[in-house]
Amino acid sequence: MRIAISTGGGDAPGLNAVIRAATLSALSRGWSVLGIKRGYAGLLGDDEIVPLTVESVRNIGHLGGTILRTTNRGNPFDFPRLQPDGSYVSVDRSDELIENARNLGIEAMISIGGDGSLAIAQKLVDKGMRIVGVPKTIDNDVSCTVTTFGFDTAVQTAIEAIDKLQTTAESHDRVMVLEVMGRDAGFIALHSGVAGSADVVLLPEIPWRLDAVCETIMERDRTGRKFAIVVVAEGAMDEHGETSLIGESMPGQAPRIGGIAHRLAKSIQQRTGKECRALVLGHLQRGGMPTGYDRFLATRFGAAATQAVADGKWGQMVALQTPNIVTVPIVDVLKESKRVDPHHDVVRTARACGISFGD
Ligand code: F6P
Repeated sequence: MRIAISTGGGDAPGLNAVIRAATLSALSRGWSVLGIKRGYAGLLGDDEIVPLTVESVRNIGHLGGTILRTTNRGNPFDFPRLQPDGSYVSVDRSDELIENARNLGIEAMISIGGDGSLAIAQKLVDKGMRIVGVPKTIDNDVSCTVTTFGFDTAVQTAIEAIDKLQTTAESHDRVMVLEVMGRDAGFIALHSGVAGSADVVLLPEIPWRLDAVCETIMERDRTGRKFAIVVVAEGAMDEHGETSLIGESMPGQAPRIGGIAHRLAKSIQQRTGKECRALVLGHLQRGGMPTGYDRFLATRFGAAATQAVADGKWGQMVALQTPNIVTVPIVDVLKESKRVDPHHDVVRTARACGISFGD
């Protein structure tokens, strides 16, 4: 049996632990393993294909990033092709990809990615490829799994930022606005805000008003707490119901979300007269060593993916349904993205502890 492994979309801490576990568990069955570099691009001649051996996955489980590289611009069904005049057109290169995989003797693939990569995997499965998915994203927005690896590490990074902002905010009587990632899901903001004892947490899932945010800050001020920490999810809509976008994205790439923290800090300062500063935590949340939890989950996912290949579970994704790792059809996963439930106990816990959602 010859299998291939690819990592697609934005990287997430724990990818290398999945690659390691999937490779080792495949090799121990006597299979051979190929690593496709840069998502599916390696299968389209745009990057390398490398053998994965015991040596190549040695000592990588604790490393951030992915030894296989990744891209969020490699959709083979919507591949950006540069034209002589500098513009791009979208081309469907899926048949070419399937043909290349066949010529390499690849009998099955483990595709590690978020909802975008899983959607591509499903379309390839529909065209006859034998693929098993592994959910990956710091955003934790993939359905049918309790969590994705990478999320815990991102939350940890955000908590450390909040802890550090607390001391400087208190020293200066300032309002600190911290913007965290998550695209359209508020899990990183919610979990880090609760664990880091933020004062205000703003999420895409809970509409908020500037008046309510400022009232929370001024109420603290009146009781002698002259500083405040506001955690805002990058995808939280502003007061006009709009998501903040930064600049141009590259061809084939989703619009880039971000920048709300600066606008919010300006509005709070104007409204309250309090000095405000903004910090966009950005890609720090994606970098560095995975937490023990993420490494552990990623290792379980990797071995489970190889097992799913052995069982012929094409079009299935491994998932955590505590306490077990199970497989679920990717089509079910794609039905809807996971979002924060405004009535979830974490939201209720936050409110009970005095956190405002600006609603
Ligand atoms: O989906 C993961 C994520 O980190 C989002 O939280 C964020 O909006 C996006 O990727 C950033 O993508 P890029 O790496 O293209 O800037």
